[in-house]
Amino acid sequence: MNRGIFISFEGIDGAGKSSHVQAVADAFTHANRQVVQTREPGGTPLAEKLRDMVLHDAMDPLCEALLMFAARRDHVQQVIEPALARGDVVVCDRFTDATFAYQGAGRGFDLKVLSQLEQWVQALPSGGVRQPDLTLWFALDPAMAAERLSKARVPDRFEAQPAAFFAKVHQGYTDRQQADPKRFARIDASAPLDAVRSQVMQVLHERLYLQDPP
Ligand code: TMP
Repeated sequence: MNRGIFISFEGIDGAGKSSHVQAVADAFTHANRQVVQTREPGGTPLAEKLRDMVLHDAMDPLCEALLMFAARRDHVQQVIEPALARGDVVVCDRFTDATFAYQGAGRGFDLKVLSQLEQWVQALPSGGVRQPDLTLWFALDPAMAAERLSKARVPDRFEAQPAAFFAKVHQGYTDRQQADPKRFARIDASAPLDAVRSQVMQVLHERLYLQDPP
């Protein structure tokens, strides 16, 4: 049986990661792997309801952090762990690094409390804490991301934040990468779409998740 692979996609709003989630899922399907494509907050009926609240309803940073982790708990238990146990590839648009970047660095919420929640919510029965095998971090200058976002749909509570917020979120991702550099692959998201896609595929080949040449 194949070993399950857990890949997360991260970056500030406007970095353009979501268009690559599908391409990665397709590449694994093409390589005859079973793929579960999912997202956070969300991925289960309960977590999608929580997503709707957290993206649109006013709340304080503690409430926001708790709802992110509540959604994650359901998602990990109902979707991610069963898929990995089956040997599937889980392709997930955002995971816990987003909470450290947005609620931690962005909102200034206590990082120690976030670490404690991470330990509880992602605890494995065998001990240890579930983390992605690979995190593709779409790194983009916050000013460039803001320009891309200005052309986007009606903004949600996060997309509507000022540039200073996204500068802090970007720093939050930088800190997470420095804390666990092996897990992260930094993708230069300022490049044209095709070049970004090539970088992503290159990483998947280098890490031997895909065998065919890119
Ligand atoms: P998305 O637009 O990439 O689907 O993400 C939804 C928003 O939720 C995005 O602005 C980032 C935010 N978010 C957090 O603030 N904390 C989290 O833990 C996650 C997963 C997302």
